[in-house]
Amino acid sequence: MTDYVINTADPLDWPGMLCVLQTANLHHIPSPEMPGLALETTFVARNGEGIAGVGGFKMTGPKAAKTTLLAVHPNYRGSPIGRQLQEQRMAAAKAAGAETLTTNCDLPAVINWYKRLFGYREVGNLPKLHSFGDPDIDRWTTLETDLMAWSGPRSA
Ligand SMILES: CC(C)(COP(=O)(O)OP(=O)(O)OC[C@H]1O[C@@H](n2cnc3c(N)ncnc32)[C@H](O)[C@@H]1OP(=O)(O)O)[C@@H](O)C(=O)NCCC(=O)NCCS
Repeated sequence: MTDYVINTADPLDWPGMLCVLQTANLHHIPSPEMPGLALETTFVARNGEGIAGVGGFKMTGPKAAKTTLLAVHPNYRGSPIGRQLQEQRMAAAKAAGAETLTTNCDLPAVINWYKRLFGYREVGNLPKLHSFGDPDIDRWTTLETDLMAWSGPRSA
């Protein structure tokens, strides 16, 4: 277990964020899959060695939000930095007025993680525009969760 804090991302965090995203092939920004990241709705987990994880969202309508990217450096997975980044962005999206949160995900284990811990259900799928995430999976599974039914972060 490593000590870390989760904060809103700062422009100075960008190199460390890209290093973490690169470990999951999610660093192609700007690109058709991820034109840009709004730092004010992106969170980073910082530990003594730098950025350990990244997670964000964007509003897509007055009552709807979509996640942007989520990744934890492989050295720190299972910490639970990923769960807390996900809870942070769910709480922030809900506070911004979102009632639903949509997430595109490729890895079956992570899709199950979203369903099991955060109330997501599958609502569709779509082709990837280019290599992004797992290069062996060419479609996104689209997931959606009801933020109004979510009871909030679990204790650490
Ligand atoms: C999805 C991801 C962010 C989760 O981060 P995390 O910090 O490992 O999250 P958690 O600590 O909550 O653990 C997730 C699960 O993996 C398990 N796990 C434990 N050790 C692990 C390890 N070394 N590596 C991966 N998973 C591990 C945990 O036990 C946990 O399962 P549980 O809920 O049954 O306890 C991370 O796996 C990741 O960066 N994956 C690659 C990028 C990705 O798929 N992002 C999502 C795109 S939509």
